[in-house]
Amino acid sequence: MIARRTFLKYLAASPLLATTSSGRALAAEIFDEGSSSLADYLITSPADALDVFDFQRVAQSVLPVAHYGYLATGTDGNETLTANRTAFDRFYLRPLRMIDTSRVNLATTLLGSALKSPIAIAPVGSQNAFHADGELAMARAAGTRDALQILSNVSTRSIEDVIAARGAPVWFQLYPTSDWSVTEKMLRRAERAGAEVVVLTVDLNSGSNRVMLGQYIRADDRDCSACHSTHPDAWLERKPMYDGTGATTAGFDTPGMTWAFLERLKGATTMKVVVKGIVTADDARNCLNYGADAVYVSNHGGRAEASGRGAIESLPEVAAAIGERVPLLVDSGFRRGTDIFKALALGADAVCLGRACIWGLAAFGQPGVEKVLQMLNAELAMVMGQMGAPSIADIGSQHVAMR
Ligand SMILES: Cc1cc2nc3c(=O)[nH]c(=O)nc-3n(C[C@H](O)[C@H](O)[C@H](O)COP(=O)(O)O)c2cc1C
Repeated sequence: MIARRTFLKYLAASPLLATTSSGRALAAEIFDEGSSSLADYLITSPADALDVFDFQRVAQSVLPVAHYGYLATGTDGNETLTANRTAFDRFYLRPLRMIDTSRVNLATTLLGSALKSPIAIAPVGSQNAFHADGELAMARAAGTRDALQILSNVSTRSIEDVIAARGAPVWFQLYPTSDWSVTEKMLRRAERAGAEVVVLTVDLNSGSNRVMLGQYIRADDRDCSACHSTHPDAWLERKPMYDGTGATTAGFDTPGMTWAFLERLKGATTMKVVVKGIVTADDARNCLNYGADAVYVSNHGGRAEASGRGAIESLPEVAAAIGERVPLLVDSGFRRGTDIFKALALGADAVCLGRACIWGLAAFGQPGVEKVLQMLNAELAMVMGQMGAPSIADIGSQHVAMR
């Protein structure tokens, strides 16, 4: 089958065949959307990957159906999830020629820290659902690639163990509960562990309608009771950051949270505070008014509301609202160096990867994440060279325009 499909790939790539209707049908049959690989080709080593979608296919093949559904799901009919990818097409690149790019340097700074690259790892909860080593494998990969890692507070590994595996502090992402004392205990613990930045996620306060997840759970006929007890607070037992906090699942609904919470958080911690989940200029201004040290544009990878708007489309208005006052991070839908370059050109200082790193983790553990990070950094370096931007500071609005 592979041999036939490999042959068909070359046929489909032929300009002659691809311009005929049968050629287009053939191409549609054998290629994944957005991927340059054969739809059913599974790599057996990270070194064989051509793009991050190679890891997605392996992840899907190795994960339990319901776990893959948890990873892949958007909300409603996946309108935002889809827009996160298609919106990149609305922005095109404007390469500037004949600039010396014999040395391309990805180094940058963020909130006062020197980074080897603006590509960072987004907070993703429950990573043991994707690999037995979960957040520890992610941390080791972040360590070897010297990448910034943001740890979710619904992680399956503790911040102390993750920082030990990373060999350096990570940023700590916080979902508050309705009980302030839970938040306070967690802040103290993160500070003691060495975290210097807390990322407050504000985009899931009233729930999300994850239809696709439900469909995958429905299709999974395994007995999952060993891990997923029906007791409402059982899942908290697998979340070490809640140990000793007195948290209950009931406290996870926070529809009453307002901007006053950000002010309170700022006053309660020595860590710098980043606000994650901002998609409008209005809220970017609120972040500044209530003391945020950085703003993080995100629609939770299409897992919050079905706004139908891609994260890259939110970036320009947020960037314009905050100007140069605080750093700007972004995630949701980033799969290629070109995507990352567009965000940097539109004003982002750093770009975080959610699913791309998890695909690497699920597929091959630590080496899979390392390859995802290496590949996207190499892709970004190549685009920077092509665009005539040898350093991150050289990337600007001159390099991108909207259709
Ligand atoms: C399985 C999964 C779990 C996630 N868990 C968290 C979390 O615990 N905290 C958080 O702030 N964001 C969480 N996110 C959102 C990510 O931080 C990030 O915003 C999103 O994955 C970016 O989109 P991308 O996956 O298309 O790169 C999660 C995303 C996924 C896919």
